[in-house]
Amino acid sequence: MEPHMLTLFLLLIAALLAHAGAGITSSYRRSLLGLSAMPFDADVFRPPPGYNAPEQVHITQGDLTGRAMTVSWVTPHHPGSNVVRYGLAADNLTRFAEGTVRRYAFGGSYQSGHIHHATLSGLDHATVYHYAVGYGYENVRRFSFKTPPAPGPETTIRFGVIGDLGQTAHSNDTLAHYEARPGDAVLFIGDLSYADNHPAHDNRRWDSWARFVERNVAYQPWIWTTGNHEIDFAPEIGETVPFKPFTNRYRTPFRASNSTEPFFYSVKMGPAHVIMLSSYTSYGKYTPQWTWLQDELTTRVDRNVTPWLIICVHSPWYNTNEYHYMEGETMRVQFERWVVDAKADIVFAGHVHSYERTHRVSNVAYDIANGKATPAFNVSAPVYVTIGDGGNIEGLATTFRSPQPDYSAFREASFGHATLEIMNKTHAYYEWHRNQDGVKVVADKAWFTNRYWLPTDTN
Ligand SMILES: *[C@@H]1O[C@H](CO)[C@@H](O)[C@H](O)[C@H]1NC(C)=O
Ligand SMILES: *[C@@H]1O[C@H](CO)[C@@H](O)[C@H](O)[C@H]1NC(C)=O
Ligand SMILES: *[C@@H]1O[C@H](CO)[C@@H](O)[C@H](O)[C@H]1NC(C)=O
Ligand SMILES: *[C@@H]1O[C@H](CO)[C@@H](O)[C@H](O)[C@H]1NC(C)=O
Ligand SMILES: *[C@@H]1O[C@H](CO)[C@@H](O)[C@H](O)[C@H]1NC(C)=O
Ligand SMILES: [Fe+2]
Repeated sequence: MEPHMLTLFLLLIAALLAHAGAGITSSYRRSLLGLSAMPFDADVFRPPPGYNAPEQVHITQGDLTGRAMTVSWVTPHHPGSNVVRYGLAADNLTRFAEGTVRRYAFGGSYQSGHIHHATLSGLDHATVYHYAVGYGYENVRRFSFKTPPAPGPETTIRFGVIGDLGQTAHSNDTLAHYEARPGDAVLFIGDLSYADNHPAHDNRRWDSWARFVERNVAYQPWIWTTGNHEIDFAPEIGETVPFKPFTNRYRTPFRASNSTEPFFYSVKMGPAHVIMLSSYTSYGKYTPQWTWLQDELTTRVDRNVTPWLIICVHSPWYNTNEYHYMEGETMRVQFERWVVDAKADIVFAGHVHSYERTHRVSNVAYDIANGKATPAFNVSAPVYVTIGDGGNIEGLATTFRSPQPDYSAFREASFGHATLEIMNKTHAYYEWHRNQDGVKVVADKAWFTNRYWLPTDTN
């Protein structure tokens, strides 16, 4: 071997060794077929039988701790009843809540159905309630849900985590896989219907999406984070108010956490304090979101009551995919110090259509001048999970940056969903379920230890 060849060879070996033991880039490659939206006549979009039957039923937590639940639904032809009847037994719905009804128009050609929102309050924690909508008309539809346990360190909860779902056959697999072993609630990390990928933001895709996910979200609360596909800013068709379809169709309990806008807020559910941030609402110093988050972390989070602190935000702060690389950087710079100081356990993000989990790193030491721009292990830092892999129409983000940075623990370009099971004050079990061509496979899993109560050097 020529001397310079030998040098090259040794350098190559050294480079390979330097990255041995670093993160895993999974070699599993899934088929890229079937990415278009399911057709309007697909079984999952079928309206319920009966004239003007309530459809698109969905629920979300209606207050700070889960003693209220907001029920939303659409009646297609006329307003119908605004009432939700509910009670402890399916055949004895003794209580009722009166809601509101609204419609909205979009782009000059779309007119929504009649969108109802009603909040059932005064509920007991950890209790099953039955409810029905469509009273006063023939087509009553019946559902049920269970309220979360009262906030407390001895409680448990199992979250599903889904992002960037959309309405393709892959989206349907993701939902079916979650339903095969559902949790108590879904943390939805933004980008719901992808209606805006259709001509003139075809808002019929908001309706079809809501009919598609009803089979789960009518029975357990989905906690909403907003993504870029909720903005629906379309001045070319006269739509200049951001988040118009989303805010007409979906409720968040933002006032309960003293937020002033529906896009950033928090809920407490059993052992967890969950904060939803908005990548698409201003977050610079002195803005409402900045002020609210500072207040939230310093006055409303109490780890004695809710040992686990979870943050959901659409655009990731740590992402090693070429797709949307560094888009979340300005928000990271603004908020990371607070989040590490607060010893948050996990930050879930979406947006990037692949899966990634990081080690516990922070970049808080960097101050532009000192050159310390490499993320460093920090025992107080959260794990960052990117879960924008629900299966939407835009397809997978398959190009990861190479070599895999040390802070990236596991990454794979597949669709799927995660579950997070909080066992007690110190331990939570986490799994990512890949959609392996229609079959659910656990492709990544980890035990997380609580940063506040058990800040060990491991996960
Ligand atoms: C229906 O519920 C009410 C209040 O919860 C209760 O007082 C009543 O006994 C129940 N009726 C039946 C038939 O179960
Ligand atoms: C969606 O998934 C459900 C549950 O697996 C199945 O019954 C249904 O036929 C699927 N629909 C489509 C259009 O893939
Ligand atoms: C919200 O603000 C009001 C007025 O400052 C205060 O009384 C209340 O305790 C706050 N609630 C929460 C959940 O922080
Ligand atoms: C780890 O995080 C803490 C809390 O934000 C911070 O004070 C400390 O400087 C960080 N350590 C490193 C090595 O970045
Ligand atoms: C918490 O759960 C973990 C996992 O199940 C278990 O190993 C640990 O002993 C539990 N801690 C307590 C205090 O029960
Ligand atoms: Fe997105």
